[in-house]
Amino acid sequence: MNEALSNLGNENRSFPPSKEFAAQANAKPDIYEMADKDYLAFWGRQASNLYWHRKWDQVLDWQSPFAKWFVGGKLNASYNAVDRHVLEGRGDRVAFLFEGEPGDSRQITYSQLLIEVKKCANALAQLGIRSGDRVAIYMPMIPEAAIAMLACARVGAAHSVVFGGFSADSLLARIQDADASLVITADGGFRKGGALALKAIVDEALKGKTHVKNVLVVRRTGQEVAFSDRDIWWHDLVDKQSSDHEAQAFDSEHPLFILYTSGTTAKPKGISHTTGGYLTQASFTHRVVFDLKPEKDIYWCTADVGWITGHSYVVYGPLINGATQVIYEGTPDTPHKGRIFEIIEKYGVTILYTAPTLIRTWMKWGDEHPNRFNLKSLRLLGSVGEPINPEAWIWYRKVIGSDNCPIVDTWWQTETGAIMISPLPGITATKPGSAMRALPGISVKVVDNEAREVGNGGGGYLVIDRPWPSMLRGIWGEPERYKQTYWSRFDGLYFAGDGAKLDNDGALWLLGRVDDVMNVSGHRISTTEVESALVSHASIAEAAVVGAKDEITGQAIVAFVILRGGVAADKDLEQSLKSHVTKEIGAIARPRQIMVVSELPKTRSGKIMRRLLRDVAENRAVGDATTLADPNVMKLISEGLKSEKRED
Ligand code: WT7
Repeated sequence: MNEALSNLGNENRSFPPSKEFAAQANAKPDIYEMADKDYLAFWGRQASNLYWHRKWDQVLDWQSPFAKWFVGGKLNASYNAVDRHVLEGRGDRVAFLFEGEPGDSRQITYSQLLIEVKKCANALAQLGIRSGDRVAIYMPMIPEAAIAMLACARVGAAHSVVFGGFSADSLLARIQDADASLVITADGGFRKGGALALKAIVDEALKGKTHVKNVLVVRRTGQEVAFSDRDIWWHDLVDKQSSDHEAQAFDSEHPLFILYTSGTTAKPKGISHTTGGYLTQASFTHRVVFDLKPEKDIYWCTADVGWITGHSYVVYGPLINGATQVIYEGTPDTPHKGRIFEIIEKYGVTILYTAPTLIRTWMKWGDEHPNRFNLKSLRLLGSVGEPINPEAWIWYRKVIGSDNCPIVDTWWQTETGAIMISPLPGITATKPGSAMRALPGISVKVVDNEAREVGNGGGGYLVIDRPWPSMLRGIWGEPERYKQTYWSRFDGLYFAGDGAKLDNDGALWLLGRVDDVMNVSGHRISTTEVESALVSHASIAEAAVVGAKDEITGQAIVAFVILRGGVAADKDLEQSLKSHVTKEIGAIARPRQIMVVSELPKTRSGKIMRRLLRDVAENRAVGDATTLADPNVMKLISEGLKSEKRED
């Protein structure tokens, strides 16, 4: 467990909901009781808010750990997200308020979105994409990213969105694992004031062996790109399609998407989600946790579609609920550090959902940036991705929320598909830093090593003890790994990988990962994946990677490396290793610091004791090292490092 977070849970200030907010809130206090009475009936009622071409026969079929939700039901995700609003008279409502990094903007109504999605679906069909196929999407944060996802869903092809910051190698591995036959990308996207290439990276990736037949390319930046017979411009193909396309109904358990996430091994896991249950929980949670009033609110979730948050709370949840939302292509400090606040003012954003790392970055940049803009339109603030420290929570509430917006700290994972633990605005009195309690219809527990529930005041492992509609249905192509990873630590319980504690009032505090997974700026990165990237460098014999506490990013990657015989540690080595990791995985995995050591601390069974390395990386006295195979190792490491200068 990340010791740096162990002071969480000692905060006892509580912020009760205001009467005004409570009076208008979507969720009413009896919702918990109603859900507890019969949780399957409760989820059935939530599912009824979707449009089903055929109603389900059974809410849940649970053959632990394999679930089927809304068995026998048939629906179409894109029909629910788009067609339905147009058919019910909401076509003129704006779906997307798009803001490009250079300052260009576009408004897209639900009617216009429907036309684009239908054209794109026809284009996919013309390219031979059929129900059951996989399509890789590698895009900047532009409306076409959502259109491409919805078009895949419309024709029953599973999308696999790969975050635009991933390297060619990472993209290739994901294309191969899912065996995608089409890649949808753009020439590039605008980031940090420049045009970041995407198509060139796809070309690089596709030098590997794949079954990709075509690459569909949106022109976004206008930068020079190489084009081969395989490549087709979006404007040449999609724009010319008919805007008639009838959405076909798919089984509730039809695959909707695959999204890769890092685990404790070097190989990312293709988390598989299906349709009916996923859409039910994504839309329900979006409605009650963010208190969405679709006619009035301007909603903004700052996540990229490359992450699960972008799937559930930019595309599926908000669109199903008919939200009007902002999407922004660029970085928060381009061209100035007030950019996000400027956009909030411009569109009158009422609901903001973002990550603690950005909140802490804003704190560091200074209050003058938010204070330059009018943020009074905001009425609710959300946080996701990692534990939010009480200081950041209070700052968020005061400086961004003018002290009168409820804050929802939402815990969930790529695997859970939708929010699992969060306060409900208007109902829950919140404590800064606590995600408070499981949502209605969801059951979580904190247990000890023997799966015994800890009482109030106790700490342990966070588990989920009942299936939930948006749960992952497996790891793509690896059914055994699914059981092994999530269901084997405690019999019959889903183990999330997080440590948690219950305070004396029973409020839940997330304490960070207890496995070899780091959380850098809310993004999950496996220590093993970075280690294997490092040892693929010609100079490195062995590597151990830890997540060390970092004021801004939550955790930062610190690597300990042993050089191969004959290699000398010159001053270029650290840079060369950092670039190597960037090339292998992507910039998000670039280590903050690399330390050359002569030994690594290992147990007798050969397992690296990362806890001890974390002590070194965080400048602490080294803890209990009695289980080390060689008790002198830590002394060697500490002494060796004292003579080195540290670089941050
Ligand atoms: C891991 C999941 C869910 C979307 C973003 C990340 C950590 C997430 C919180 C929170 C404390 C959190 C957990 C979890 N995490 N939200 N509110 N409080 N920790 O998705 O990449 O699948 O990572 O993020 O450690 O296991 P992800």
